[in-house]
Amino acid sequence: MESDIMQIKVERVPQTRIQEVDFENIPFGKEFADHMFVADYENGVWGDFKIQPYGKMMFFPAMLGLHYGQTIFEGMKAYRNDSGEVMMFRPEDNFKRLNVSAGRMCMPTIPVELMMEALKELLKIDAAWVPESKESALYIRPFMFATDEFLGVKPSNKYRCVIFTGPVGPYYTTPLRVVVEENFTRAAKGGTGSAKAGGNYGGSLYPTRLAQEKGYHQILWTDSIEHKYIEESGTMNVMFQIGDTLVTPPTGDTILKGITRDSVLTLAADLGMKVEERRISIDEIAAAYQKGELKDAFGVGTAATIAPIEVIGYNGNDMLLPSMDARALSKKIAEELRAIRYGEVADKFGWMVSMN
Ligand code: COI
Repeated sequence: MESDIMQIKVERVPQTRIQEVDFENIPFGKEFADHMFVADYENGVWGDFKIQPYGKMMFFPAMLGLHYGQTIFEGMKAYRNDSGEVMMFRPEDNFKRLNVSAGRMCMPTIPVELMMEALKELLKIDAAWVPESKESALYIRPFMFATDEFLGVKPSNKYRCVIFTGPVGPYYTTPLRVVVEENFTRAAKGGTGSAKAGGNYGGSLYPTRLAQEKGYHQILWTDSIEHKYIEESGTMNVMFQIGDTLVTPPTGDTILKGITRDSVLTLAADLGMKVEERRISIDEIAAAYQKGELKDAFGVGTAATIAPIEVIGYNGNDMLLPSMDARALSKKIAEELRAIRYGEVADKFGWMVSMN
């Protein structure tokens, strides 16, 4: 069977696996929907578009992407709204960012319209996998990797782009304990920190394990030069409420241009809150804490949504953030974002995109 939109060959599963999923209790990242979209790049063009059963792929051991890190990815979500419709949250922004990452990693871009068509087709086929529960969503993982069989260090001539999806619950299930990192670095100026490149995440695993051995969930990353200015936390952008102002570090080549980050800043400003995108030092955070002005801290990301931080470890001490009940500002933003995503209020920023 062929899709008439962009000649996607469609091979459906003989039997869905959906009945194996406990939709009342979905963990993050363990369930995968029946189908995936696959495209291959060769001789300078993307082609061979397929939607096929989610499953194993065969590669040669010399495949470049496995060796030198030409792998990039995105994370986005689709929600089932109150009318039962499946709506994607800002998908074009994610596909645009995939292309920014591709540029940085010397990989080919892939047209946003092509990815949108592919995703809509995929979602139509797997629409039943979009959870009903308002604690859950369908996570969408587009990614691209180098597929040349070659051992020299050079940009690959061939690439594969895949989109698979899966129902997810929350990524973080408890408020987070984070610790300021003053030794290891996530991203350096001129590096790949603002690209969603696999290696950025690989490099964070060891320092994160050390932090976890000390009783924290995640790291609060600081700049690579002075280890003084806050950058991101774990897999998320990070925000603080100091007094009545929402403060977040500016994006640049060490900080990911988060789409949830942008949405939260837009909503906060729209709700009349004071918002500042500026460098923020850990000493400023510690001083605000001492004066009782550090009212809130939270991570923002697709997987994490809005993840409250309850403890910030710094210099051998733990700063204890106010209780969840006292966090009116971030709760209000989270509630507003949730209501837009599930179609409970008007989508005045035009963020939700129908799969039709
Ligand atoms: C996302 O928030 O979608 C991310 O990319 C984080 C991921 C590493 C789980």
